[in-house]
Amino acid sequence: MEAYRYPQPMASEITPRSYFLSRRTLIAGAAGSMLAVGHTDQTAQAAAGHAGGEAGWPAPEKPTPRNDVTQYNNFYEFGTDKSDPAELSGAFKPLPWSVQVDGMVDNPRTWPLEDLTRQFGQEDRLYRMRCVEAWSMVIPWNGFPLAAVLKAAGPKIGARYVAFTSVFRPSEMPGQRGGLFALKWPYVEGLRLDEAMHPLTLLATGVYGEALPAQNGAPIRLVVPWKYGFKGIKSITRITVTDRQPPTSWNLMAPEEYGFYANVNPAVDHPRWSQGSEQVIGEGSLFRTARKPTQLFNGYAEQVADLYQGMDLRKDF
Ligand code: MTE
Repeated sequence: MEAYRYPQPMASEITPRSYFLSRRTLIAGAAGSMLAVGHTDQTAQAAAGHAGGEAGWPAPEKPTPRNDVTQYNNFYEFGTDKSDPAELSGAFKPLPWSVQVDGMVDNPRTWPLEDLTRQFGQEDRLYRMRCVEAWSMVIPWNGFPLAAVLKAAGPKIGARYVAFTSVFRPSEMPGQRGGLFALKWPYVEGLRLDEAMHPLTLLATGVYGEALPAQNGAPIRLVVPWKYGFKGIKSITRITVTDRQPPTSWNLMAPEEYGFYANVNPAVDHPRWSQGSEQVIGEGSLFRTARKPTQLFNGYAEQVADLYQGMDLRKDF
């Protein structure tokens, strides 16, 4: 299915696809767009300076082909097969859209999507992504740090977590109309506040330089590259700051298989399969599957390991 487009105030800032071919230009593109939107906040600057390798974050590999990124998806609201989200999302209307930011904050606010992109811009971030099903991709996202939105909201003293809620629209999402396999709807996820404020944590509004296709979580979704993919909740309608650990959809479904933290960890196997290695989507051939070893925190240990000091990651998996 063709990726649709919708008007975005920052369209001129979106880096053309060809930029992703070179790490050096990727970094330049990110820094340029940050300057263009006049961002001065430190998190955003750090993030822009760290779009890839040389500035200290892991050097991104070659992006996964666009076709795999947009045709091989998990989005159970549209069905359980990898091809369902692309094939069965034709009725989904991503616009108009707004995101309610509420809970323990000084400035609760409902943001129209275009105000979010106008205020916070669109950086380019080439991230390794690792699904809990032991496959991986490298995805060129466009978006802004979640931290920027949370800072604008102003978390109150005592706030410790952030809860996220996906859209509930059974008339547009066939997977929400029942069937044999069903998560509880709406899909929900959560992060600890410090994880949510980390400069790597992104709200993505685009991929490969275009507005997110429905199957990738249009029009706005979470991206947390050191955690298993299911933390990356799609089509977000609400972000709630709270003092309680929020429920999460996969944990509610199978608590012994999916924990709250879901940090990528090759030493902690899923009860039904190994997490020691991963299939590299878009590489290999009919005759040979490309596999590589999985890295702790998906290769982002240097950036995020501090967040988990003193924790037993086998218990808090
Ligand atoms: N968000 C919602 N609302 N519904 C889902 O079923 N699936 C998750 C996550 N976010 C899911 C979701 C899972 S299991 C993964 S691996 C990623 O989205 C996949 O994102 P991608 O298709 O863009 O690669």
